[in-house]
Amino acid sequence: MSTDANTSGSDWQPGHSFTPPKEFAAQANASDPEIYGRAAEDPEVFWAGYASRLDWMEPWNQILEWNPPHAKWFVGGKLNVSTNCLDRHLATNGDRRAIVWEGEPGDQRTLTYRELSALVNQFANVLKQQGVGKGDRVSIYMPMVPEAAIAMLACTRLGALHSVVFGGFSVESLAERTNDCGAKVIITADGYWRRGNIVPLKSVVDEALPSCPSVKRAIVLRRAGDKCPVKMEPGRDLWWHDLIVGQSTDCAAEPMDAEDPLFILYTSGSTGKPKGILHTTGGYLTGAYTTTQLVFDIKPTDLYWCTADIGWITGHSYVVYGPLANCATVFMYEGSPDWSTQGEPCRDRFWDMIERHKITILYTAPTLIRACMKWGDEHPAKHDLSSLRLLGSVGEPINPEAWLWYHRHIGRERCPIVDTWWQTETGSIMITSLPGLTTTHPGSATRPFPGISVDVVDDMGRSLPPDHKGILVITKPWPSMLRTIWGDDHRYQQVYWSRFPGLYFPGDGALRDMEGNYWLLGRVDDIMLVAGHNLSTMELESVLVEHPAVAEAAVIGRSHEVKGQAPVAFVIVREEYAPPSSDGEARKRLAAELKEFVSQRLGAVCRPDEVIISGDLPKTRSGKIMRRLLRDIAEGRVLGDTSTLADPNIVAGIKSKYGSDDD
Ligand code: PRX
Repeated sequence: MSTDANTSGSDWQPGHSFTPPKEFAAQANASDPEIYGRAAEDPEVFWAGYASRLDWMEPWNQILEWNPPHAKWFVGGKLNVSTNCLDRHLATNGDRRAIVWEGEPGDQRTLTYRELSALVNQFANVLKQQGVGKGDRVSIYMPMVPEAAIAMLACTRLGALHSVVFGGFSVESLAERTNDCGAKVIITADGYWRRGNIVPLKSVVDEALPSCPSVKRAIVLRRAGDKCPVKMEPGRDLWWHDLIVGQSTDCAAEPMDAEDPLFILYTSGSTGKPKGILHTTGGYLTGAYTTTQLVFDIKPTDLYWCTADIGWITGHSYVVYGPLANCATVFMYEGSPDWSTQGEPCRDRFWDMIERHKITILYTAPTLIRACMKWGDEHPAKHDLSSLRLLGSVGEPINPEAWLWYHRHIGRERCPIVDTWWQTETGSIMITSLPGLTTTHPGSATRPFPGISVDVVDDMGRSLPPDHKGILVITKPWPSMLRTIWGDDHRYQQVYWSRFPGLYFPGDGALRDMEGNYWLLGRVDDIMLVAGHNLSTMELESVLVEHPAVAEAAVIGRSHEVKGQAPVAFVIVREEYAPPSSDGEARKRLAAELKEFVSQRLGAVCRPDEVIISGDLPKTRSGKIMRRLLRDIAEGRVLGDTSTLADPNIVAGIKSKYGSDDD
């Protein structure tokens, strides 16, 4: 691949690349290219070097104990995550801003490290009073407000595991996740602002809790106030602001073993049921801390904004733990990118906030970048974005067009871009550029982070030469790797370690080019990446067949201009419910009902873009649905090989129906 170090965004051609701007390289946290070689020589020593910059209550006696596929890092060491994110900064940086927050209506709050620490300690005392202690589980179902981070940090202070559930998830998803981890307490808010409306949260909790017998208390933050009246169940529901009154700002931090569980975070599994990914204390914090420092080049003068919701791993590692462990100033925003402080639709809220707050680092998702591209260049153009010095992307492959738009219209051709590949399971960034060192290629996440070993292999697990498409694997353990699936170690071994024994299988396709850059090619399993959210086709299918009208369902991810992929469902309807094929209106009504059904059961992010009512589904002779063909149909491609189908006529039938649901 040729390199043209000085290509400006406007005359970019495939194959051209971008070297880090000199001024950036001169001040970067990672400025020595030797870092890669040193880390590769002895990854354990590399990681231990960064881990030792954290505060440990007791030192470890062994860096790594590896009994594949189970790893223990920093064995015997003791530490507490909240003291590393708060207490250790207080003596010298207590007055530094920890969180700068803006609500959708434009209300603002700033918390210094000292203030944040006091609130976390007080809330930890609240939780303690409610019987929460080391090893207990706490569900967090919160909007993007500082109290979400406070709740997470308070759990870690006591050694309780949090399970944060994304506020956009439904009653059933919340109940399923809460029951799976057996949470004792749930922390929520009355509601929050989004697109000028109040999204209720407490009422979702009210519906979920009757089926969550382990939950004894619901602690409710008042965010929406009068706009969102809530019913408080006596004996179960308590207001955050009542409980916090008079609490001491001192709460002893629990000394945690490096391998003590830190949190559970659920992610979609290709067999339907979400997987409770378990992260532990010392290794996770080391991964989040090190990557934040080197990838985001965090400095005391930065105002760093990761736009992810705390309900996702990106919010855990790069809104809360990584930045706070680095004593960074984090920007947090509650609402939607297309809503103004005046309560009206707009297309420039992000750019407006970057200008007003002088945000210096922006980390967001390709789906947001593509939406902004579609809205038009004039919206960022209205704003002074000169405070920005670094841009990041995460969640799905970023197409070169979106990368270049981001580079030109947001980075104004000055800011390096870090395209970061990683997963809930990996805990921290695995493949990325280092902004002061790496030459970037639009669409490539570039190189494994120092200390991380990856490879591209064929179906048999054999390493492939450069420029061959294959399957990505991680070949050595790393500190922030998941330790297991909560309550199901067998599944952990099956999902991640059985495909290629001894190699971690993330489920992504990849290609390594001649220069050693990695190009991520999307999922190789039944997971869709919808607006950066990881959704399981199987989970949607299981819900669809619960609808009385549906006999069978197949869901695929269709390419989508903005969201990357969008779910499309093909359903076979039971005879007694089947609208006659001549009754277009009835078919549309049923399709709309099924979309709403999925949305209600799993949350709006899971709503299918299209539901196609079909007489049959294309299956192999052994009865396996050929999703590849459904994808071809949905994306309007010439159909691939149909020779293994039991009945090749079926695809013609579906093709003729495709497009009939245009509501
Ligand atoms: O397919 C990859 C995609 O997102 C998956 C992980 O999703 P999740 O666990 O929800 O975590 C998302 C945030 C880390 C991966 O298996 N993915 C994530 N980042 C990238 C990506 N694909 C390509 N390029 C990326 N930068």
